[in-house]
Amino acid sequence: MSIKVLVTKDFDHMSEVAADLVKKDIVRTLRTKREYVLGLATGSSPTGLYKHLAEAANAGDFDSGRIRSFNLDEYVGLPGQSAQQRFMHPESYCYFMIQEFFALLRRKPIETSLPEGSLIDQKKLLAALKTHPEDWREVGKDAGRQVRIKASPESAYLGWIRNGVLGAYAKKIRKAGGIDLQIIGVGGRGHVGFHESGIPFKGSGVMLVRLDDDTVANAVTDGHFPSEKDSPRYAITMGVEMIYQAKTVLLLASGERKVRPVAESLLGDPTPDVPISYGQIYSQKGGNLIYVPAESAAGELLAQKKKLREKGITISQVSQLQKIPVGSS
Ligand code: GLP
Repeated sequence: MSIKVLVTKDFDHMSEVAADLVKKDIVRTLRTKREYVLGLATGSSPTGLYKHLAEAANAGDFDSGRIRSFNLDEYVGLPGQSAQQRFMHPESYCYFMIQEFFALLRRKPIETSLPEGSLIDQKKLLAALKTHPEDWREVGKDAGRQVRIKASPESAYLGWIRNGVLGAYAKKIRKAGGIDLQIIGVGGRGHVGFHESGIPFKGSGVMLVRLDDDTVANAVTDGHFPSEKDSPRYAITMGVEMIYQAKTVLLLASGERKVRPVAESLLGDPTPDVPISYGQIYSQKGGNLIYVPAESAAGELLAQKKKLREKGITISQVSQLQKIPVGSS
């Protein structure tokens, strides 16, 4: 299948077009499958899509009671003396999803899952990493690193994280039959979820990641946490090898900050420096990749239409809500 880019006017238009694509895929899939498996993302990019999708469900366009969802990522190390407190911390992705999507649905989904980062006690994690340096290594050539825990580690805590948190999430997605459609946003340097720039593609299923120091500092500057001491230092995330197993991957991007990563991901060769460039490998293997950028994020792509076409990527500007079958290439 090829890669399709649908350039929309602005954030609202992007949200409307993307929600229409998701809705149609749900309706079509539920004709032949009992459940629809939807991959979700946090961040500001998908919030408009969630509103439109919830409206469509509540209007009876599809049955949200037949949806099972999996989120990309969750922090480890949110403030809170218990897992319950961390799950419901207002900065948790769990809280975000309830606020931005789940609570809007009149008929609740079959089940919603996020990586269980909140179950991990960051103090215990740090102690285990310190006392068992032979059990793990950091992988990545940039500031954010994957923490790879070896098979059968000495530390029972690290063993539980490897199998009980990371492995269990991957297993759960497989048991659900894989993700039908995964919604993703993109970070300023082309990262997706917390698959940060520089983390290799290979071995990036569900990962424990030590966050980039800048990510931690920015979280304080942006007012999410009172100090760096209170900020999460780690996260659990699907990596690109897991994300791009979905039948369809739908990427949203708006704002000038996204121009470069969006362009690099399609115009350059695939590289872990720009994690979403993995989409090219995905589409070569038959994956259905759709970018729905707002014009503000698509400047470079529009300027390089010819090069995109040479690479087999179709790009069009959506003037109004058109009927675009999600499975077509
Ligand atoms: C964070 C999240 C990513 C998200 C990115 C961009 O880094 N972990 O999953 O894509 O922010 O967020 P926004 O959509 O707000 O630009």
